[in-house]
Amino acid sequence: MRALLTSPALLRRTALASVAANVGIVLTGGVVRLTDSGMGCPDWPRCDAGSVVATPRLGIHGVIESGNRTLISIVGGLAVAGVVLALLRRPRRRDQLTWAGLVVAGIAGQAVLGGAIVHSTLDPWIVAAHFLLSMALIAAAYHFWRTTREAGEPTPVSRPVRALSWLVTGVAAAVLAAGTVVTGSGPHAGDAHARRTGLDPATVAQLHADLVMLLVGLSVALFLFAPPALRRAAGVLVAVELAQGLIGVVQYLTRLPVLLVGLHMAGACAVWLATLTVLAGARVTRARSVPARPASDPRPDRAADRPLRKARKYLPVPRPAPSPPRPARRRPAAGR
Ligand code: HEM
Repeated sequence: MRALLTSPALLRRTALASVAANVGIVLTGGVVRLTDSGMGCPDWPRCDAGSVVATPRLGIHGVIESGNRTLISIVGGLAVAGVVLALLRRPRRRDQLTWAGLVVAGIAGQAVLGGAIVHSTLDPWIVAAHFLLSMALIAAAYHFWRTTREAGEPTPVSRPVRALSWLVTGVAAAVLAAGTVVTGSGPHAGDAHARRTGLDPATVAQLHADLVMLLVGLSVALFLFAPPALRRAAGVLVAVELAQGLIGVVQYLTRLPVLLVGLHMAGACAVWLATLTVLAGARVTRARSVPARPASDPRPDRAADRPLRKARKYLPVPRPAPSPPRPARRRPAAGR
């Protein structure tokens, strides 16, 4: 039993299941909003004043919202299992424990925000924070999963490429944030009595789309300048962004049909995961970045030696060793 619990494969699968569950709960949350079931359970943490699950009185909306809340226990269970398995691992890894712990902390934060959403009758700003915290959770779960499958020492790519991948991540986060404001200003509130932001939907949608254009431009630049190890991930990112942009434009022009809005939410998760993949790939392993040379090659391996030569530039120039003291000259004896 202990061998099973400490197996790397179980840790890896649990971490991957946690990523999938966190994406899944964003999508089921979308179903709640798009079917106007946001207040299907009028209380929190109970569904109704007297019941944890939906009662027949609450109808289909109660069933949908109550079902979504039940999924939280699966997401939370996987997160706790991740921490336990990371604790059992020998030797323990601090990065794994940190990421796994962040997932648990994020889910606790979501429970608090979920309560605030119900008590504020779906305040759009709290709903936006709920979505964005989910994106942070996906990032933590994704990084936890990466730690379970990495091999070898990471070697940083060039600084400009690394900076560009951070910039792409920052702009992607801004696109997601702007998208939640568009949602908070639009018609799909999740309940007929929910408040809206009061902002003009067309203006915020334009701002959202402008940020998307910036994001696509930066991602194309990353694709062009990325080293081969990163180019594939950057190419996937550009493709996912273009597909998501197309869904966004079509849903806007067709007055937001719920199916397309749901697809756009799934696309947002895909863009975010593709961004995280690029960011994580901006640290490639030495084994991958420096191709092995045949042992028969007599030339010196300059590529493998490059970091050392670079470091030497910054080392103090060695001073010449002090010359040994000269033997004192004998003075000729006086009077000779
Ligand atoms: C990389 C591309 C894009 C990403 C990552 C993205 C992401 C998002 C996100 C995260 C939301 C909020 C979802 C929610 O709160 O439930 C959203 C909403 C929205 N986006 Fe985008 N979006 C992209 C492109 C576009 C484009 C090009 C348009 C065209 C105008 C667009 C139009 C909209 C609209 C109208 C909404 C509100 C939907 C609603 O009422 O629920 N999006 N987007």
